[in-house]
Amino acid sequence: MAFIQAIHMNPGQGETSYACNSSFQNAGQKRMKPLIEAAITDLCSNTNTLLHGKMMIMDAGCSSGPNALALISPAIDAIHNHCLQINQPPPEVCVLLNDLPDNDFNTVVKSLVTLRQSKKTIVVTGVAPGSFYERLFTSDSLHLVCSSNSLHWLSKAPEDLTRNHIPAFDIDEHARRERLPMVREAYAQQFRKDFSLFLELRAKELVSGGRMVISLVGTRSNAIASKFILFPGIVAQILSVLVAEGVIDKAKFDSFYVPLYGPSSEELREIIEAEGSFSIREMRVHDPRIDMTTTLSTPARFVNNLRALFEPIIVQHFGKVMDEFAMAAELYWSLDASLQEERARTSRTMLAVSLAKA
Ligand SMILES: C[S@@+](CC[C@H](N)C(=O)[O-])C[C@H]1O[C@@H](n2cnc3c(N)ncnc32)[C@H](O)[C@@H]1O
Repeated sequence: MAFIQAIHMNPGQGETSYACNSSFQNAGQKRMKPLIEAAITDLCSNTNTLLHGKMMIMDAGCSSGPNALALISPAIDAIHNHCLQINQPPPEVCVLLNDLPDNDFNTVVKSLVTLRQSKKTIVVTGVAPGSFYERLFTSDSLHLVCSSNSLHWLSKAPEDLTRNHIPAFDIDEHARRERLPMVREAYAQQFRKDFSLFLELRAKELVSGGRMVISLVGTRSNAIASKFILFPGIVAQILSVLVAEGVIDKAKFDSFYVPLYGPSSEELREIIEAEGSFSIREMRVHDPRIDMTTTLSTPARFVNNLRALFEPIIVQHFGKVMDEFAMAAELYWSLDASLQEERARTSRTMLAVSLAKA
């Protein structure tokens, strides 16, 4: 069972760090820019929302490296440009970055200082360590919440599986196919609970008329997903090679759960509507295959990307297996034509949603 503290990306600036292996995620962040700009225009035009000439914006699940500021920075520019256009003084802005406590906040804090020095509108910057599935801010204090590539991380693996010792990924293909609908449903239910809670909490923290622009990994509606979404399926397959080689214990493998779920756009819409705190201004669905090209282009890139995302959670569960994992992953890349096939058939999508507090 994965504990929440293990969910963080590989820290630092090394070759397996998230900072050096997040260009795929950055491509998605760039596509969110128009949604962020539209939300800012809306916020700045609403005199009730900006009553005291102050604006508080936050990023939920910022991680570290260049992506940590990739949503906040265009938001600040949009505020500046909008105020210039209408000939108004810009509001005083407070920027807060959130992630789980084990995130590499040292690097984040340094980049926040640089950001504040380069953007005159920013008066205060800070970090807000903690789970975004808990209250993080005082009520009616936030104006804009951004989040990219983070909300598909669940608060925990589904208890229906962990309690009943049902593996998320059976090594036996027949058993895996048989159980897939049940396993998927357990993950879907956990996502529904977590995402509804996230909406409820942020609605308390946002001012009336506050905005939220988020993106997360999704699943194509019509997908017959044989391996969930691309990466956890591949991670499980690589780990299963280590089971066959006797590097890791089968029972240990069976109790490994990656707390990730990618909803379909319909599922996401339905959860937002049922929870009721937000109206959907815009929802975009993007096919991520083009962005994957670099990530999968060489064995080293493929392995480093997997390590950047999954090393902490793998090491916490299995101990020191990363050298063996990296070797098996390289072999998987070079031998397995199915990686390219999987890329072509991937059931993955990227979902971006712009929300307004109802
Ligand atoms: C793939 S990174 C995304 C980072 C960045 N936003 C981007 O788009 O590149 C996902 C981040 O979400 C964070 N995360 C996962 N669950 C979280 C939670 N419950 N509360 C806060 N952060 C969380 C992880 O620690 C990780 O840093």
